[in-house]
Amino acid sequence: MNYRHAFHAGNFADVMKHVVLVRTLLYLARKDGAFRAIDTHAGIGLYDLSSEEAERTGEWRDGVARLEAPFAPEVEELLSPYRQVLDEVRASHGHAYPGSPFIIRALSRPQDVSVFVELHPADGDVLAARFKGRGVKVLRLDGWTALHALIPSPERRGLVLIDPPYEQPGELKRLAAEMVKAWRKWPTGVFLGWYPIKDPGAVAEAAGILRAAGPAKALRLELMVDAPDDPSRLNGCGLFILNPPFVLKEEAEILLPALAARLARSTYAGFRCEPFGREVAPG
Ligand SMILES: C[S@@+](CC[C@H](N)C(=O)[O-])C[C@H]1O[C@@H](n2cnc3c(N)ncnc32)[C@H](O)[C@@H]1O
Repeated sequence: MNYRHAFHAGNFADVMKHVVLVRTLLYLARKDGAFRAIDTHAGIGLYDLSSEEAERTGEWRDGVARLEAPFAPEVEELLSPYRQVLDEVRASHGHAYPGSPFIIRALSRPQDVSVFVELHPADGDVLAARFKGRGVKVLRLDGWTALHALIPSPERRGLVLIDPPYEQPGELKRLAAEMVKAWRKWPTGVFLGWYPIKDPGAVAEAAGILRAAGPAKALRLELMVDAPDDPSRLNGCGLFILNPPFVLKEEAEILLPALAARLARSTYAGFRCEPFGREVAPG
């Protein structure tokens, strides 16, 4: 387990993932009934952007730091709840960036339940110290094993964020297979699986698994900040979303082009917002 999210917190990939996470949580909170949010690879929940790790890569400078200038009003409207979380973090922690557990707690209500899973022992301890109290559980377990043990949740509604470090070969294919298995166990859950875009062929293979065996309703969102011509580099990132909120496609069509234009590292910027579940006819 060499991956440390502190080197990458607040980069373009975090921005994309967290903006979509916020939109999904807001959708779940439209109804009064409780929802459960399960984060299978949670990290430590809050990152100091002045730390040696963050400074060493400076990735946040090409990510969250580029959001300072306002976007067009229709983009700002959708981005504002994410900006509110950033403001909350800055007010209480200074030059810091929220991880997914912080975002989940910020958008949860007293009736909602959060489960954060982190295998790294020291990170699990930090997470447990940071997020305690009613409605939160922190588990120091393997996220893949925990996922299947935790679903279906007692609340019918909820989401699962699967955000592995991609240190093992074949992890993208595994993501797709585990998402299919999890959706079969919890057919009403919303599943968000994050992936890096290095080799587009590996992404297409994972999408094929989900298309063949996943639910009718699925969405593939991608943000490209470099041309997909160098598989050794993180050229972009994506989210496979099973059972997406019905408003998410429309929202992503407003958000992603604006984020791509703002976060591009070269002259190449791109995005994808594609329903791809079984009910969608090919071609
Ligand atoms: C990409 S980071 C998570 C970032 C976090 N979801 C966020 O958005 O703020 C991946 C995390 O997974 C943890 N991890 C690695 N292997 C794991 C496993 N098998 N089960 C659970 N966590 C794992 C790493 O220690 C790391 O903190």
